[in-house]
Amino acid sequence: MDSFLIKGGIPLQGEVTISGSKNAALPLMAAALLTADTCTLRRVPDLSDTRFMLRILESLGAETRFENGTVTIRAASLRGFGDYDLIRKMRGSICILGPLLARLKEATVSLPGGCIIGTRPIDLHLKGLAALGGRIEIEGGYVKAKAKKLEGNTIFLGGRAGPTVLGTANILMAAALAEGVTVIESAACEPEVTDVAHFLIGMGAKIQGLGSPTLTITGVRELHGTDHEVIPDRIEACTFLCAAAATKGDVLVHGAKPEHFGAVSDKLQEAGVQLKREGASLRVSRSGRLKPTDITTLPYAGFPTDVQAQFIALLCQAHGTSVVTERIFESRFMHVAELMRMGAEIAIEGPSAIIKGGRPLSGAPVMASDLRASAALVIAGLAAEGETMVNRIYHLDRGYERMESKLQALGANIQRVEGE
Ligand code: EPU
Repeated sequence: MDSFLIKGGIPLQGEVTISGSKNAALPLMAAALLTADTCTLRRVPDLSDTRFMLRILESLGAETRFENGTVTIRAASLRGFGDYDLIRKMRGSICILGPLLARLKEATVSLPGGCIIGTRPIDLHLKGLAALGGRIEIEGGYVKAKAKKLEGNTIFLGGRAGPTVLGTANILMAAALAEGVTVIESAACEPEVTDVAHFLIGMGAKIQGLGSPTLTITGVRELHGTDHEVIPDRIEACTFLCAAAATKGDVLVHGAKPEHFGAVSDKLQEAGVQLKREGASLRVSRSGRLKPTDITTLPYAGFPTDVQAQFIALLCQAHGTSVVTERIFESRFMHVAELMRMGAEIAIEGPSAIIKGGRPLSGAPVMASDLRASAALVIAGLAAEGETMVNRIYHLDRGYERMESKLQALGANIQRVEGE
């Protein structure tokens, strides 16, 4: 397993270009199953997760190509039974269920397990598909869904922790081919869901209410192929903003959509980080001390859970006490113990991390436990004095395209150490 060796203490300086969004690309690829025509997706990040999704689509009978950031998918013939092990390994693969059921009226997909950040149930996905007419059974580790036909319905998709991102995408995709009108109430408003809606509209779907909590879908008989550019990855952009701020750097970020991460920009500024639009780009810099700040993760347009870990790494540098409360996933604090190995002073109290910041971090061997936790450890390593070895970075490779080369271009001393 590969590791990153980081020699910290160098302010990041220069320019970085943000890749396409992983969390948009995954459901977009699944949406291509809704038609027998060829779909083209541009600006797809080259990641182990996107490569994995293509393998899943191939296991269902689709033909795929991935070249220079462009993916083409042609699902002319399709079977409704995916490879159990492939699907089980990636939670994002649950979003093939809606398209398969809509197109074939039958789908068997392995039940995704929980993961390190929480139990991650799929009850809302299943509730939505059942409301459209799907008969769902869980058997032998599989979700088996069948329907004579799918019919529009009004579906409330809010859960214990608010709306569901991939659940909304799943129901949206299925409803696009259902008979009649579907109204999704308490739909997720994340830009990734809106990107899926734009893609579906490009395929001929009729959807109103984009970006709002009420989506109205008027089903159509058939969808056709289309060509679509994936939105920029707002979580990658925020990760680079935090890294630049943590190292007292000065970085020009190209290709991001700042309107997609207003909550993060607001908190960065509250903490004393400078953000300035320069044409279509965003400059992030810090000269003075960081101030402590409190954050609570919330559904969009609130502070994203996917930036919580990176922000904690940043707040370790802020002089004073910050409180970070996680409201989306129940156990998303695995990075805290690792940050403490580097000298961070953090206490966990229920859903909150209390960070007493301001003491310099010192490099240490640490273990990445999930994708965003890994990004937090890289940020901490870049800011720390001395050497940090971040082990198990396969998590990072799932979601950050060429992270080490982008950081090297900003002056960071970071090397990939290959393991067996
Ligand atoms: N939930 C339910 N029932 C469901 C579905 C979700 O109770 O049927 C709960 C979850 O347990 C959680 C909350 O609802 O408490 C929100 O989960 P959501 O369904 O929105 O998460 P997701 O769609 O499975 C996507 C991203 C995650 C991101 C979350 C929240 C992808 C592939 N994954 O997951 O991204 O954290 O939305 O924004 O899009 C990451 O990129 O590191 C990552 C984990």
